[in-house]
Amino acid sequence: MALAYEKYLQEVLIDEATLQSRIAQLGAQINLDYAGCSDLLLLCVLKGGVMFLSDLSRHIHVPHVIDFMAASSYGTGARTSTGSVRIDMDMRMDVKDKHVLVVEDIIDSGYTLAFVLKTLRNREPASLKLCALLNKQSRREVDIVVDYIGFDIENKFVFGYGLDLDERFRNLRFVAVAKTDALADE
Ligand code: IMP
Ligand code: MG
Repeated sequence: MALAYEKYLQEVLIDEATLQSRIAQLGAQINLDYAGCSDLLLLCVLKGGVMFLSDLSRHIHVPHVIDFMAASSYGTGARTSTGSVRIDMDMRMDVKDKHVLVVEDIIDSGYTLAFVLKTLRNREPASLKLCALLNKQSRREVDIVVDYIGFDIENKFVFGYGLDLDERFRNLRFVAVAKTDALADE
């Protein structure tokens, strides 16, 4: 029987083994960069960052806490971002004087992250860095410094491993490119 996601699948872009080995590398780099740090806070941007956070966090041996924030852009369709971003759910912890590492699934236009970073910066963390699993550099509309990038990808709509196709298929163990005709159909 065909699995539900298969009709939307153009191709598997990043398979599970490739994802996991790159995430282990990112974790190793973060361990070096934050060695000795006693107040590291990983901030996951929901919902897309959740799979990445849970795998990345288990490679980080520097003691750390985790927290979550949900942000969304509004004004256009679900698959494109605009300059209007809001915080749907704020984090619980205080970031003041903490070393904050934001963990995000994908950076597209950059509007969401620009807003999240500005919000956090106003709260005076000791440092603020950004780790994104996927980066669509060609789509960028606002300048953002990304300290850790898992994979640079082309401008294609992807889903799986935290990323959704109309809220579904976040549970897939790989990142897939969606068929453009399947997207247009709905
Ligand atoms: P930005 O504000 O344009 O950078 O958009 C970032 C957000 O849009 C991400 O956090 C995702 O939630 C969503 N997004 C952007 N591109 C994709 C994609 O290819 N698949 C799924 N979600 C995406
Ligand atoms: Mg996201």
